[in-house]
Amino acid sequence: MKDRRSFLKTACKPIVLATLGIPILEACSSENDESYDYGSSGSTTSTLPSTDPLVIDISSESFKELQVVGGWINNTSNNILLVRISNSEIRVFDNKCPHQGNRNKWSYDGNNFECGYHGNSFSDNCSGALTCYDSSLEGNILTITF
Ligand code: FES
Repeated sequence: MKDRRSFLKTACKPIVLATLGIPILEACSSENDESYDYGSSGSTTSTLPSTDPLVIDISSESFKELQVVGGWINNTSNNILLVRISNSEIRVFDNKCPHQGNRNKWSYDGNNFECGYHGNSFSDNCSGALTCYDSSLEGNILTITF
């Protein structure tokens, strides 16, 4: 009995390590890492929106453009485009260009966002190519659900 226990202790350890080691090594692979080229700025980040709701106080200085209808910003720290549609609605989009994924050369003409990399234009309605997120505005508090 003692020999069998001793055998199992020594023989099973490598088998268990080999079995668990493969998924651990796969999980450490960088093959699925996402990073984005920011073009001329030369910076790269792997920041993606969290799945937790994002709550923004639009009365803060960083979001002052959203105080007026038609105001918009590219909030690169959260990878989102925001546009004030009406007194009660702010639409929120992923700022990743559907063409090649650039995030930092946006302009807005009142109805469409234009990406400055190749000049493609995308509607500010939520049925266009830009990924649109659910949002709700209560007073100055904007809640975005990813
Ligand atoms: S990357 Fe935006 S238009 Fe090409």
